[in-house]
Parts: sequence; C-alpha cells; structure tokens
Amino acid sequence: MAKQEDKFKKVLSHAKEYGYVFQSSEIYDGLSAVYDYAQNGVELKKNIRDYWWKAMVQMHENIVGIDASILMHPTTWKASGHVDAFNDPLIDNKDSKKRYRADVLIEDYCAKIESKIEKEVKKAAKRFGDAFNKEEFLATNGRVLGYQEKINSILSRMGKSLENEDLADVKALIEELQIADPLTGSRNWTEVKQFNLMFGTKLGASADTAMDLYLRPETAQGIFVNFLNVQKTGRMKIPFGIAQTGKAFRNEIVARQFIFRMREFEQMEMQFFVKPGTQKEWYKKWKETRLQWHLSLGMGAENYRFHDHEKLAHYADAAADIEFKFPFGFKELEGIHSRTDFDLKAHEKFSGKKLQYFDHEENKNYVPYVVETSIGLDRMFLAVFSHSLQEEELENGTTRTVLKLPSVLAPVKAAILPLVKKDGLPEVARKILDDLKWDFNVAYDEKDAVGRRYRRQDANGTPFCITVDHDTLQDNTVTIRHRDTMKQQRVKISDLKEIIAKEVTVKNWLQKM
Ligand code: GAP
Repeated sequence: MAKQEDKFKKVLSHAKEYGYVFQSSEIYDGLSAVYDYAQNGVELKKNIRDYWWKAMVQMHENIVGIDASILMHPTTWKASGHVDAFNDPLIDNKDSKKRYRADVLIEDYCAKIESKIEKEVKKAAKRFGDAFNKEEFLATNGRVLGYQEKINSILSRMGKSLENEDLADVKALIEELQIADPLTGSRNWTEVKQFNLMFGTKLGASADTAMDLYLRPETAQGIFVNFLNVQKTGRMKIPFGIAQTGKAFRNEIVARQFIFRMREFEQMEMQFFVKPGTQKEWYKKWKETRLQWHLSLGMGAENYRFHDHEKLAHYADAAADIEFKFPFGFKELEGIHSRTDFDLKAHEKFSGKKLQYFDHEENKNYVPYVVETSIGLDRMFLAVFSHSLQEEELENGTTRTVLKLPSVLAPVKAAILPLVKKDGLPEVARKILDDLKWDFNVAYDEKDAVGRRYRRQDANGTPFCITVDHDTLQDNTVTIRHRDTMKQQRVKISDLKEIIAKEVTVKNWLQKM
C-alpha cells in the first residue's frame, strides 16, 4: 500500500513539475477537485481526445459528432431522472466532521481485501516459479477463495441495499465491517443520506424572473435531445451513432485522487441507436470494441478488466465498466451501458414531441434502443500518465525518470538539440525544427549538456531527441535517440520525417485494433 501511495505521490509531483496539471487557482490555495491543464497537459489531453474521435467518429461511416451546449433546458434533467435520482449516499463522521461517500468507504474496504489476494498471488508466484499458473491458483486456493467470497457478499449486499434505498442497511454494513474514518480512525458515524450531485445556476438578470438551470452532469442528454435533428439532417439509418466530447460537472462528495474524480471534467461519449431487440448484441460488440481501443495503446492487457454491474442504473438493462489498474488499484475508466429506450421515451413524454425513427425495412415507427460508451477524458489522462511514469535502473547504476507515453499521445514528438550553442549548429537545428513543425509538435532545447537535455526530454515523455553536431555541417546527418531504448542512430536529415511519422501517426496505432 505504501508503495502504491508513493507511486501516486510521484505522479502528482511529476505532473506539476513537467507542466502537465496544476491545481486550479493555486495562488488562492486552490479549489478542491478542480484542476487546470498546463502546457504539456493540454497537448496530451488533445491527443487522447483526437485518438478517440478518430476511432469513434471518423473511422465509422454511421457515427457522426456534435457539440451540444453545457446549459440545457431544465426539463431535460427532470426527464433524464437526474433531478430525482442523481444522488450519492453520504455519511459524516461525527468526530472528524469529514464527509464520505458510504459506498466508497465500503468499496475501499473491499479493495484492501483484494490487495491481500494480490499478496497471496505474489507469494505463490515466487514459491512456484515458472510452474505458477495464476488462473488455477485464483480458482483453487482456499484463502483466496475465502477473500473473494467475502468481497462478493459485501458488494452484493451493498448493491441490493442501495437499489432498495435501504440506507439504514448501508450504515449497518459499515458498522458491521468496523469501517473507520480513514483520516482519524473514528467509528462515530451519522446516518446515511442521499445528496444530489448537480450544480445549480441561474439564467437571466433579475432575481424574480431568473430561471433555475443545472450545469450538465453528463454530455449524453445533449445527444438525446438532438437525436431527431441529427437523424433527419444527416439522413442517418439505424444502427447509427452520435458522439461528442465536452465538459460535465458533478458536485462530488468525495473528490480526491487527483484528476480521477473531479467536480469539473470532460467526457467522451457515444450513443449508438439500434433496433429494439438488438441491443444485447450491440452491447457485446461495443464492450469488445472499446477494450480493443484501449489495448491498441499498448499499456498491457493485464491492466484492464471488465466489471459487469449487478446494480443497474434506472435507465439500463445491462452495464459494465472497463477498469484500469491505477496506482491506487483497479478502478472504473469507462462505462458501457445498454440504456434501453428510457431516455428518448422520457424526452417524448416531457417535451410532447415524437422522437421516433421510421424503419423503411420494417415499415413502422419505433423509439430506438441505445447502447452508450462513456469515458472520462481526465481519467484516461490519469491512466496514461500514471502508467507511463517509470523509474529505470540503468546499467551504470544510475536511475532515470522516464515518461513512456504511447508516442502517438506524447505532447512533443521530437526535441531538436544543437550539441553546442555556437559554430552554426543552432541555425541548422532551427532549420530542422521549422521544417518538422508543419507535421509534428516539436521543441527546441539548447540549454545544459546534451546528457541532461536527454534526461529532461525523457521525463517530459518526448519519444525522440535529434542532435545536431559538427558532422551534420559536413554530411547532413543527425543523431536520433529513442526515448524508450535510449538507442542512438545516425540518419539523414531528409529521412527524419518518415522515421518520426512511422512511430507517431494515429493510423499506425489504431490499425492494431
Ligand atoms: N452518460 C453516462 C455517464 O455519465 P458515468 O459512469 O457516470 O456515466 C462515465 O460516467 C465516465 O465519466 C466514467 O467512467 C468516468 O471515466 C468519467 N467520470 C464520471 N465522473 C467523473 C468525475 N467526477 N471526474 C472525472 N471523471 C468522471
């Protein structure tokens, strides 16, 4: 656990030191769970968004994008169920006066049991060496099975209690498990209460006539209310999808773990409209397609898993999370939900407008069913950033900090370094920079010895360093150094574009899907 916390602290300080993420309004001591993306962070975030957009919109003839506004008519949120049911169960500790999400306290308790399973696996792997079969061990070891059974029974009881709105039982579970305030160890808890997560605001100048609005808590509703407009103007035929990326706002009670849970965040969502009765098969397809998208980034299949929901939201007939192994354990990264016809039907009812599709093959109207894929852009940023940050022991006994970002997502693709700041080398380096910047985001760096510059670029996540030296003046060649292997090659300046493009273009990465 201490090791995990240590790693997470390093992620936070590295994100700040290298210009990826800053606390919002830091000079005023910050605003809790609100963050700003800095000069490198904004590029990484944009690259993740573009990678998603390419895969989800531009590579599909039957998926189009929109950009709906953050403010929507307030009835939207009545229809969607958010006014009545977008709540988190909260509990206060009477001694520390700290507020927690009751379900998160219970899930964290289960995560501790899960780390005991991981310890057993590690011990057994050491004991059995090459003969170790992890699947078999997990399925047969008595102690592991006991731990797993305990987790299952706790989560299933919590799921049922939350579904039945039995908040007294959620509190009883916390007491039975003797869960204490993580900060103070106190077990003096209040009752569990529901808390609506939407941020309210007002539209209009005068206090009497102003209209109460909400900042959208998900981007999905902007797609549902535009369903017919897009279908008609785009002449879309079912099955088809509408995608968008954009800000969402939630007044999270437990807003911690850096950009994992924020009050203002960005979602990348796609609603796929299908014929009623076919939703199960599309749900299966999108679960698999989304996992393949993640795997294409090469961050290790062992770091992803599905979590199929037992407790379903009011709108869903099936739901699963793609979980990623963050430095604090496996947590939700993306949700895939089969949302039935709940949303469109609800908007029909509240707006009085028909939101139906005329199926020419079937010769009838129907309200389509929807399968949704929904991923937090900030959470994806954290997954990529924390996975990529590594400390490596080098052969000469030193260590290097390297940010092994998938090169397609790296903010800066190449740094151009003149070996010395004289003899015409900076001029040649700048000429290379001016040429490459048409195709890639590149940087120029002439300060400090070249070794230190390499380390700086490693820590920054730059996949290539291109060094201009005195030989360059004679033969138009440069040294290109690869971040991950630290291998250096002598290449022609005229070949640079092709070498970089091969490593960083979206096509070469997405084709792995
Ligand atoms: N339209 C469905 C929807 O919003 P969700 O599971 O509530 O579903 C989808 O959210 C994704 O949005 C999550 O998997 C997560 O990646 C991201 N997300 C949700 N709340 C977040 C928060 N407070 N901070 C950062 N990301 C969040």
